[in-house]
Amino acid sequence: MDEDVLGRLLEKLDLVQKVRLLSGATTWRTAAEPAVGLREMVTSDGPAGVRGEAWDERLTSALLPSASAIGALWDEGLTEELGGLLASEAVRKGVDVVLAPTLNLHRTPLGGRHFECFSEDPVLTGRTGAALIRGIQAAGVAATAKHFVANDSETGRMHVDVRASAQVLREVYLAPFEAAVEAGVWLVMAGYNGVNGATMTASPLLAQPLKGDWGFDGVVVSDWGALRSAREPALAALDLAMPGPQGPWEASLVRAVKDGHVPEEAVDEKVRRLLRLAGRVGALAADRQPRTPVPAPAPDGADRTRALLRRTVAAGCVLLANRGVLPLDPGSLAKVAVIGVHAAAPRVQGGGSAGVFPPHVVTPLDGIRARLDGLAEVVHVPGPGLGVPPAPLGTDWCADPRSGKPGVLLRLLDGAGRELHAEHRLSGTQLEPPVGPAARTVEISALVRPPATGEWTFGIAGFGRMSLTLGGRTLLDGAFPCTTDDPAVVHVNPPLHTVRAAVDTREPVLLTARRELVPGAGRATILAAAPPEPEPVAALAEAVRAARDADAVIVVVGTTEHTETEGHDRVGLSLGGHQDALVGAVAAVNPRTIAVVNSGGPVELPWRDGAGAVLLTWFPGQEAGTGLADVLFGDTEPSGRLPTTWAAALADAPVTDARPVGGRLAYEEGVHIGHRAWLLSGREPAYWFGHGLGYTTWEYGAADAPSEVVAGSPFTVRVPVLNTGARPGREVVQVYLARPESAVERPVRWFAGYAAVRAEPGTWATAVVEVPARALRHWSEAEEAWCTEPGPYRVMVGRSAGDLSWGGTLEVLEAR
Ligand code: BGC
Repeated sequence: MDEDVLGRLLEKLDLVQKVRLLSGATTWRTAAEPAVGLREMVTSDGPAGVRGEAWDERLTSALLPSASAIGALWDEGLTEELGGLLASEAVRKGVDVVLAPTLNLHRTPLGGRHFECFSEDPVLTGRTGAALIRGIQAAGVAATAKHFVANDSETGRMHVDVRASAQVLREVYLAPFEAAVEAGVWLVMAGYNGVNGATMTASPLLAQPLKGDWGFDGVVVSDWGALRSAREPALAALDLAMPGPQGPWEASLVRAVKDGHVPEEAVDEKVRRLLRLAGRVGALAADRQPRTPVPAPAPDGADRTRALLRRTVAAGCVLLANRGVLPLDPGSLAKVAVIGVHAAAPRVQGGGSAGVFPPHVVTPLDGIRARLDGLAEVVHVPGPGLGVPPAPLGTDWCADPRSGKPGVLLRLLDGAGRELHAEHRLSGTQLEPPVGPAARTVEISALVRPPATGEWTFGIAGFGRMSLTLGGRTLLDGAFPCTTDDPAVVHVNPPLHTVRAAVDTREPVLLTARRELVPGAGRATILAAAPPEPEPVAALAEAVRAARDADAVIVVVGTTEHTETEGHDRVGLSLGGHQDALVGAVAAVNPRTIAVVNSGGPVELPWRDGAGAVLLTWFPGQEAGTGLADVLFGDTEPSGRLPTTWAAALADAPVTDARPVGGRLAYEEGVHIGHRAWLLSGREPAYWFGHGLGYTTWEYGAADAPSEVVAGSPFTVRVPVLNTGARPGREVVQVYLARPESAVERPVRWFAGYAAVRAEPGTWATAVVEVPARALRHWSEAEEAWCTEPGPYRVMVGRSAGDLSWGGTLEVLEAR
């Protein structure tokens, strides 16, 4: 949009009108201004799908694999296509701004939102994020690079003050955002956290480098509820306070301008950016209709979407180890044992604000059964339970007591207990019950047909006075005050309170949860229940019997929504429950055991040397089972590579601490995170950054790299690779740099670029890795500028940060 036009629109607005535009009109919408033909703009999370404005299980969204799986693609073309899918979902749902991608780094394996970030590496994160942004924005939908910056863990996330040097920020944590700005991103989200003493919504980093050095011309939006005062963020370069109404700016920004504390030009600059965004997403033309939410579920039969997501699952799967077991030949199998709770109930996405409701989920068991239909017998044995709190009610053994339809009855009651509203719903998770002003109580009830008798566990989540009754019997009744200001906890993931009770009948019994509404505590209400878990020793023995009897075993293990979620860091990397014992026991009786790991971030795999193969699927999204079957049975190759180094045990990991001390979290490791930290420590991880096997083998020839380059110039490394196996394959060739005699603090070696090639058996292909000039630069704190040290560097080529087959010397010449 022409800047003069923006200027003229701005002139039409008085101060009050301008300030009104700088806060949300609703939780997800910006304000409209008819005087300039501006309609509301709709925002939505992001990043695993586009939820739209409502948390409603009936309004489904295509569910992509988690960001960590997309980080494992090492494929910018496919990532761009996924961006296009997010954009088409946004258009379908009337969304202008997608709150993705998340560009924070895997600083510690314990990070609760690890699944939502791409990688431990700034370069890989930057390249992946830029590709996703290009894909989203090509369709006229805005992307949002979040959370600016150093919001890499969850402990104390609302207020933690991260301490990091300018060099560390520039070279590591800011770098992916710089790449996003270069890709033309239209919004950047300022995080909840602080950096070096300033909360991010009022941080000097918004002005410099974001809007200064990098020339970002878009909108800086606050994370939801991150704006804590009016004046400082207004003076700093924050542009838009979300959500609204009644944010801190509405109340006092006009006054602050009138009192001379904030210059009106600062407000003008923010409004200009907002209008620019509106022009970009088509929200400015006066003739455009206001956006209305599209209350339609995702078209389930959308074949192209399903095919893309299925391809992505396989492309992001990382084959960590393979002792000749994969791929399985379906023609040679008579009986396959599929073992594990996750096989039939996989974890397809992480928890928190990123959550969406998929139209369906193809489980690993479904996918394997469909692929082997008519070829082999498939036996499923869940094995021991996971020992986790109960899951929210669904449609399986629950019915709405009024209509009898599968699911639950949601009611809203007034202060006298009279019904104000009632509707049939499909889930015990009701995060946004439609409360009107008279509503005092949210009630969820279901007629439960117990699939098993014994000691059940029931649960209710929310805040305020809550009760649970079963067949008229009160199981729980108490007051649960809200003590957090974290919106992800209050509105998405309130604590679950559980109680055990005997169920001695298979006859239907009424289960009712009630929560009273109190100001400031949200309205999210969750009703959960779980039948008794099987006795672990017997369940393990049953799994072992099935494994012994089978031609191949696929055991699916993973984390749960209680371990990997927004709002909390993890306390350990163990899979939990009896899962390690399960894999160990089945692998011991059947060498053709494939362990499929269903987690968003690293987990310990103590049995990894005993399993026939170890395949990592991440949180694979709605097409989990089809994509997995394609890989298991060799219809396609698993072509993912680890975007993050995996420790054998948490105790080995060089950077784990995410606990603030006195409110501060010091990034003491400096520039040495991820594989750089492992290299510095001299320790060996279980699997290095970049590692991943396919179904063929490769031989690397001598690389062709320049022997000298002028500082400030990019260079190219050409690597011939020979497919020495029997199948076509894809190889990800990686280039690393080192500077042994450096006068500045540097990683032992650092990732500089990659290129993927495909080759038929017995043929060569050449990977052409473009290394940008910035790969050689460092941030000089003394000069407050990027510098490039002249002199010798090492260029290394290989398959992972720990497996380098070629090395050469590069002389960097001083630029004239
Ligand atoms: C999260 C953001 C998200 C926002 C809106 C926040 O709690 O940190 O990632 O976009 O909520 O849901």
